[in-house]
Amino acid sequence: MISAIPINDYLTYLGVNDRDTQLFENQWPLPYGVSYNAFLIKDEKNCLMDTVKVTEVDQFLACLKDGLDGGDLDYIVVHHVEPDHSSALSIVRALYPKAKLVGNKKTFEFLKNFYQIDDEDQIVVDDGESLNLGKRTLTFYKTPMVHWPESMVSFIEEDGILFSQDIFGTYGALDGAIFDDEVSRRSHYAEETARYYVNIVSKYNMMAGNALKKLGGLDIRMICPDHGPIWREKPADVLKLYQNLTEFKVESSITIVYGSMYGNTQAMAEIVARELAEEGIKDIKLFDVSKTDASTIQTECWKSRGIILGSCTYDKKLFPPMKHLVGLLDENKMKNHVLGIFGNYSWASGAMEDLQKFADAQKGYEVIDIQPNIKSSANEEDQEALKEMARAVAKAVKKHEEEDTKTSFTL
Ligand code: FEO
Repeated sequence: MISAIPINDYLTYLGVNDRDTQLFENQWPLPYGVSYNAFLIKDEKNCLMDTVKVTEVDQFLACLKDGLDGGDLDYIVVHHVEPDHSSALSIVRALYPKAKLVGNKKTFEFLKNFYQIDDEDQIVVDDGESLNLGKRTLTFYKTPMVHWPESMVSFIEEDGILFSQDIFGTYGALDGAIFDDEVSRRSHYAEETARYYVNIVSKYNMMAGNALKKLGGLDIRMICPDHGPIWREKPADVLKLYQNLTEFKVESSITIVYGSMYGNTQAMAEIVARELAEEGIKDIKLFDVSKTDASTIQTECWKSRGIILGSCTYDKKLFPPMKHLVGLLDENKMKNHVLGIFGNYSWASGAMEDLQKFADAQKGYEVIDIQPNIKSSANEEDQEALKEMARAVAKAVKKHEEEDTKTSFTL
């Protein structure tokens, strides 16, 4: 039987696991599923913190009924209107019609547009305003663009509990354990938190940094996000991980990505990788852009000091899977990277020119000017040029080694 899980004597976890959806937002792979978290505060007033994706509403309603234990709902706080947290709202409201909605001005604009919800007695809160529930008070902080314009978090000052909606969220269903101290696979959540951040939040990196600064003054003792584990043992760890991501901290690694149709560009990437190893680079990751999803590759690029992109030419342009990746990297406006590029063509060059356009547009990169553009397959001279480029990237990466070894994306 699905039941609510107590967090403390007044707070209950009502989250659900989605193990069926293959792609988050219908584009980002979910190999381990995802959880949609919601919470119930039972005080003089009963307050529901978010709902879930409507596909999981049956599980959720069972948990809510269990958590309320015969009681009714007084408030529903909508921290974020994206449908993974709000599409069950209309069903919940039909079952608990007395509950008043709590959100900010933009929340209600979005609720009207998505669900035609336009109540007269809705409770509109602004930045820093509070809602008293009895023994506890919720204070609201707007976190615009993390991840939507209406996004906000709330905080129980008395116990240092932050309801952070998407912030500090991660992909991955919760396999029995719902708290950080109940899982030994923290590294799994660290990787999935970073991938979630780079896929979903990274375009608004500056706003995410602003949100962290705003929350920095709070005495946070527990973080209840809308996806992934509840951070009650070491909330500082996930705060630090987020800080590293928002500040464009990088680790001393090099990510090589190649696009190859018949193996010639792959062979070039292998030569580059071997040369990096000869140069003493210990953390080298090599990806075939046609095999590994861009969701993972862009995350590895975000974390690595060195990025090397090599592509064959397709119809006088960049190989389409590489074009997709480069488009994502371009939108991310990342910083602090060393970039090496190489191209391959057989009759008309195109990949190299497109990679150069990308490189020129990156203001936060150190671009290596040795840029081999090779015809069909690498002859001895080409191989030497590839090695020369690899050595230049390795040298530039090693310049930052001392600083980068302090960066950790683990938990
Ligand atoms: Fe989990 Fe932006 O929704």
